[in-house]
Amino acid sequence: MSTATFAPAHAEHLIRARRATRAFTPEAVPEDTVRAVFSLAGAAPSNSNTQPWHVEVVSGAARDRLSADLTAAHADQRMSLDFPYRDDLYTGAYAQRRHEAGATMYGALGIGRDDHEGRAAFNVESLNFYGAPHVALLFLPPNAEERMAADLGMYGQTLLLAMTAYGIASCPQGLLSFYADTVRESLGLDDGTNGTGHNKLLFGISFGYADTSAPINNISVPRAELHETTRFHV
Ligand SMILES: Cc1cc2nc3c(=O)[nH]c(=O)nc-3n(C[C@H](O)[C@H](O)[C@H](O)COP(=O)(O)O)c2cc1C
Repeated sequence: MSTATFAPAHAEHLIRARRATRAFTPEAVPEDTVRAVFSLAGAAPSNSNTQPWHVEVVSGAARDRLSADLTAAHADQRMSLDFPYRDDLYTGAYAQRRHEAGATMYGALGIGRDDHEGRAAFNVESLNFYGAPHVALLFLPPNAEERMAADLGMYGQTLLLAMTAYGIASCPQGLLSFYADTVRESLGLDDGTNGTGHNKLLFGISFGYADTSAPINNISVPRAELHETTRFHV
């Protein structure tokens, strides 16, 4: 498509309307709408059109079972990550932004800095997908490395924007990938697509309809100024 056929205002509206939602109503999204947004997400770009994503969409009794299994794994500290995570991953400006986002979130919840119990309870609620009736688990092939994560990131944001367009609220959740073995066991997943091991879990996305009365859904976290992230060369 060589000419702009969409008003920029539409893009601005759609992109800015997407927010991480952390309180949902129990109302299920109709199945045909769920299929429509996941179908649209498949239009995401990927390296050489490889489309290396594999997605498990979980609803109903399977969703309740998965939440219970994750909560139990969390209580027993049975962590299993397919992609390593370090607490000191974010430094400098990244650590600062992370700190500010956390302060905004816990502030809206009325959870203080040293309220470890309050924070722990919120973590548990996140393993209940913040009350969302659906959750998608996003996997990469067994041999996946950093490069393929770019493809899955493209897919993820395409999915989030498709959901936003349909009025579906969402929350990407890296925390769900801290219990990859539990997710696989709960969903009965075994070997990956090419039989050389299991698909690797990178993150999950809870989705449904936003509880608009919840203060946590009214927070807004700022973005860096353009010049802080982007340099233009001529
Ligand atoms: C890959 C990824 C992982 C995330 N993991 C979590 C998570 O585990 N729990 C959570 O509540 N939010 C999580 N988020 C949401 C971010 O905190 C949120 O996108 C960020 O603060 C910006 O806010 P906004 O999405 O409302 O614009 C994650 C977002 C991304 C992209």
